[in-house]
Amino acid sequence: MAASKKGGAVSGGSLIERIKAALRAEDREEQVKIQSRRRLVGLLTGGFLTANFLMFLRFFFPRTIFEPRTQFRIGLTTDFAIGVDTRFQKSNRIWVVRTTDRLFVIFASCTHLGCTPDWKLSEAKFKCPCHGSGYDPEGRNYEGPAPRPMDRAYVALDPQGRIVVDTSVLYREEKGQPTQFDSPGSFIQV
Ligand code: FES
Repeated sequence: MAASKKGGAVSGGSLIERIKAALRAEDREEQVKIQSRRRLVGLLTGGFLTANFLMFLRFFFPRTIFEPRTQFRIGLTTDFAIGVDTRFQKSNRIWVVRTTDRLFVIFASCTHLGCTPDWKLSEAKFKCPCHGSGYDPEGRNYEGPAPRPMDRAYVALDPQGRIVVDTSVLYREEKGQPTQFDSPGSFIQV
């Protein structure tokens, strides 16, 4: 009888222990859940604040398109021989043309729809690859759909005698209009 009482006490005690252990385990689980919830909230808050901060920074760095400068120097008049010089086609979209008495700069844009023509040395012409317009070595159109000669860019000499080009200032020759190709700034006398 005593043995059975002792046995009952042992088994009762272990039940309580098991319940306590189960409660402790539940507590631990709850703690883990709370911690992971806190971590998630922390991450979301951090992400939200970072996104806001980046948007705030963008305000100070507006989206800008970096384009080649329109004003630049290309050297001395003596650097250019008579004919068409293509050295600045890629970097500045121009050709430098020197005749016996003038130096001028053609802006390399077809007057049909703005493609960049190619200089064909063997044929002594500019040929547009898009719709076939052809221009003579001075940029005057003579075949294809181009409506007028290619425009010329502003040129001048700086105090050191270097050629300054500005492609934001262009000179045109339109049908039925007085030519701008003789205007001051459209060429340099050489
Ligand atoms: S863009 Fe040059 S011919 Fe059309």
